[in-house]
Amino acid sequence: MIDRNLLVGLHGKTLFYPCCGKDLTLPIELFASAISDFCFADKRPPWARRIRDAIPSTVEKVTGNAYRDINSGNIFLFNYYWQDAREVLKELPQLGVFFHRGDGLATEKGVSSGIPWLGEEYLGQILSKLVPGGFVVTDGSNCPQDGPFQLKRYYDTKEEEYAGTVFDEVFEYKGYTFSCLGNAGRRYGPTLIWQVN
Ligand SMILES: C[S@@+](CC[C@H](N)C(=O)[O-])C[C@H]1O[C@@H](n2cnc3c(N)ncnc32)[C@H](O)[C@@H]1O
Repeated sequence: MIDRNLLVGLHGKTLFYPCCGKDLTLPIELFASAISDFCFADKRPPWARRIRDAIPSTVEKVTGNAYRDINSGNIFLFNYYWQDAREVLKELPQLGVFFHRGDGLATEKGVSSGIPWLGEEYLGQILSKLVPGGFVVTDGSNCPQDGPFQLKRYYDTKEEEYAGTVFDEVFEYKGYTFSCLGNAGRRYGPTLIWQVN
């Protein structure tokens, strides 16, 4: 669903999805043709079945944790880090994609991570590692006061509240230009694909 020409800069790069839970399929479907290393991180352990079930049918196993996207031939690694995602981020090289959704800032129920991923501190770290033309894919989860409000405009909204919206907003944040390419599906609001330059 993303124009192939926009993905060429992602070869050799990493996709990072912190606090991913079981939500493994969509990032692979969107970026399997281009990304070289999928890094999922959650403090809960992965289940082998969960991973097996999450791999789309358009992808085949090569060996170990290496997979091939059948259409493009792109080979990528699937890595799941069972640890604090903030520590994983520190170790990662250049990112092609930051993917995060379905989470929350409130931790009372013990379900949400509470980590302000789209706030100044973490978004700053992420943007400093993101290649020009890389992507931030998010439903606006975990965007505190000091994060760009445009990213959380539709967070926690019902589908009827944004039905018919053309997601083509462009905004500037700390010298970066975010251009919205569209909606990749509903989580806690639409999962918007932003290209960042
Ligand atoms: C609300 S769930 C969201 C899961 C997924 N993003 C989704 O949309 O289904 C939040 C997840 O964050 C994980 N989590 C909480 N704190 C974490 C941390 N410090 N590092 C990594 N994962 C964490 C939890 O284990 C849980 O799986």
